[in-house]
Amino acid sequence: MTTTQKVAVVTGAYRGLGFEASRQLAKKGYKVILTSRDEAKGKAAAEKLQTEGLDVIFHPLDVTDDESSQKLAKFIREQFGKLDVLVNNAAIYIDAQAGGNSVFDAKVDTLRQTMETNVYGVLRVTQALIELMKKQNYGRIVNVSSGAGQLSDMGSGTPAYRVSKTALNALTRIFANELEGKNILVNSVCPGWVKTEMGGPNAPRTPEQGVDTIVWLATLPDEGARGGFFRDRQPIDW
Ligand SMILES: NC(=O)c1ccc[n+]([C@@H]2O[C@H](COP(=O)([O-])OP(=O)(O)OC[C@H]3O[C@@H](n4cnc5c(N)ncnc54)[C@H](OP(=O)(O)O)[C@@H]3O)[C@@H](O)[C@H]2O)c1
Repeated sequence: MTTTQKVAVVTGAYRGLGFEASRQLAKKGYKVILTSRDEAKGKAAAEKLQTEGLDVIFHPLDVTDDESSQKLAKFIREQFGKLDVLVNNAAIYIDAQAGGNSVFDAKVDTLRQTMETNVYGVLRVTQALIELMKKQNYGRIVNVSSGAGQLSDMGSGTPAYRVSKTALNALTRIFANELEGKNILVNSVCPGWVKTEMGGPNAPRTPEQGVDTIVWLATLPDEGARGGFFRDRQPIDW
C-alpha cells in the first residue's frame, strides 16, 4: 500500500529535539513515526502527541542495532510503501561522564561508543531506509549535527562528541554526492544550544526554536538545498 500522506521517521524522539521535531512535522500534516529504543517511553511520547490531535505512531528503533533498523524498514515498507523524511536525531554525549573532557585523557572506548550511535547509527538507519525514498525519487534526510563538529571553528573539550559530529557531516556530504540528480536532499543542521537533557537547563533556546531549521530542511521544496550545513536556516561553514 502506498499512502499519499507524507511519512516521516524521527530517531531518538521520545524527548528533546526529536520529540519536538515529531510534533512540528505532524502539525504540518505528516504522518510521523516517532522512534525510540525504550518502548515504554516511546509509546508514552507518541500518545501525548496523539492527544494533541496529531498523526503520530510509535515504532521501536535502536540505531546501534541492525535488526532493529531492518524491522523498522520492513514495517514502513508494508504499511506505507515509501518514506518521505528521515530525521537522524538520536545521539549521545558521554565525554564528561566518561571522565575526560581533555582529548589527552579521553578513552578510545568513549570515542568508539559515541561513533557507534552518532555516526554508524546514522549510516545504519539511512542504509536500511534509503530504498523507500529512492523508489519514489523523493526524500529529505536531516542529519542533526552540531557546531561542535565544525572544523572551521574547532575548539577543545568533549572530543568524542566533536569527532562524531565532524564525521557525521562527512557522511552528509557523501550521501548528498551519491544522491546527486535525485530528488533526495540530504543536509546537516546545528540546532543551536537548546534546553534539553543534553543541552542542560542553561541553554538559551527552547526545543521549538531548536527544531525550526530541522523542520525547514525536512520540508524543503524540490530544488532546495542539498549537501549543506545550516543553522537558523542559513548555511554555515563545515
Ligand atoms: N541540545 C543541544 O543544545 C544540542 C546542540 C547541538 C546539537 N544537538 C543535537 O541534537 C540532537 C538531539 O539532542 P537533544 O538535545 O534532544 O538530546 P537528548 O535530550 O539527550 O535526546 C537524545 C535522544 O537520542 C536517543 N538515543 C541515544 N542513543 C540512542 C540509540 N542507540 N537508539 C535510539 N535512540 C537513541 C536518546 O534516547 P535514550 O534515552 O534511550 O538514550 C534520546 O531520546 C542530537 O543529535 C544532538 O547531538 C543538541
